[in-house]
Amino acid sequence: EYKQQQQIEESLRIVNEFAAKYFEDILHNDEEGQLIGGAYFQERGFRNNIIEQFRLGYCLDKWDAFITEALAKGHTQELLEKAGLIKVRDGRAYDNYKGRVIFPIFSNTGRILGFGARILKKSEHAPKYVNSPENELYVKNKVLYGLYQSRQSIGKLDECYLVEGYTDVISLHQGGVTNVVSSSGTSLTEGQLKLISNLTKNLTILYDGDAAGIKAAMRGLDMALSESFNVKLVLLPDGEDPDSFVQKKGADAFNKFIEENKQDVIRFRLGLGLKEIGNDPVKKSHLVNEIAETISKINKTEDFSIQADYIKESARQLDIDESGLINLVNKFIR
Ligand code: CTP
Ligand code: MN
Ligand code: MN
Ligand code: MN
Ligand code: MN
Repeated sequence: EYKQQQQIEESLRIVNEFAAKYFEDILHNDEEGQLIGGAYFQERGFRNNIIEQFRLGYCLDKWDAFITEALAKGHTQELLEKAGLIKVRDGRAYDNYKGRVIFPIFSNTGRILGFGARILKKSEHAPKYVNSPENELYVKNKVLYGLYQSRQSIGKLDECYLVEGYTDVISLHQGGVTNVVSSSGTSLTEGQLKLISNLTKNLTILYDGDAAGIKAAMRGLDMALSESFNVKLVLLPDGEDPDSFVQKKGADAFNKFIEENKQDVIRFRLGLGLKEIGNDPVKKSHLVNEIAETISKINKTEDFSIQADYIKESARQLDIDESGLINLVNKFIR
């Protein structure tokens, strides 16, 4: 049983490596690959060395170009389907990433676990990204995009930036900001936090400045705090993500923005919450509870003076009694 699992994993690694090489080769050497895929990356400001480092590729806009090549090289339809490289409908197999640019997802040792594939033009009928399905090799909640390329730098700088997307990781690397991983649009899992905590306990969340980004940032927060991370947050300007920001304004401006806008969890929550509640007393009591719960999570991790400082600051900003807030925090601890 164990041996069989190992064998399936290794066949998936092999077929993924074959596919990654194929998609890279198309991007660099095929006419359509250069004209469509290459032009797309160029337009986005991705230079050749970063394209090579992240092994980006392109899948031809044909139904069966990849599958034909893969079958000819001896890969089975069953394995290609399990890997998510092809799909089978009504008995007919077709390329799953047709006409998309390819982002391979690496393991800690640089083997390829799966792919993200981005559509080139906005479409109402097709999703922006198609991603590999989970299988014996690719277990999404244990993978962080960019960790392979960033792990050394995360350790050295003793800080990890967490961003939403593939392109955020790549553009930041190109700008020289190399301590960055992506949760790939899902909210952070415990398994992913474990991967980071092997390298650093300092986590800075840089999510998109839109409503979805804020929500996603909130979800990851309490968990990170309970896992005794020192969490900071930066909300990017509305409509920007790290990729668009660094491509437009450069790495120096990006770093400056991060330093000037880093907030600890409590001040971040207070700032957002106070904006939201207005004069509504029900909403206010809800916010007070949320803040108390968050402060209670910090208890485990940092020393009491920090917690006391948070309580004082929160009580002041919420205009409530400090001892009342302390009682509330203690309720959550028990
Ligand atoms: N995502 C996904 N499927 C989608 C949309 C998003 O898997 N249909 C994931 C991808 O990992 C993506 C991340 O969520 O990188 C963040 O989504 P978004 O901000 O919409 O995309 P960007 O990463 O900004 O991609 P781009 O810059 O190419 O638009
Ligand atoms: Mn977004
Ligand atoms: Mn988003
Ligand atoms: Mn984005
Ligand atoms: Mn983007």
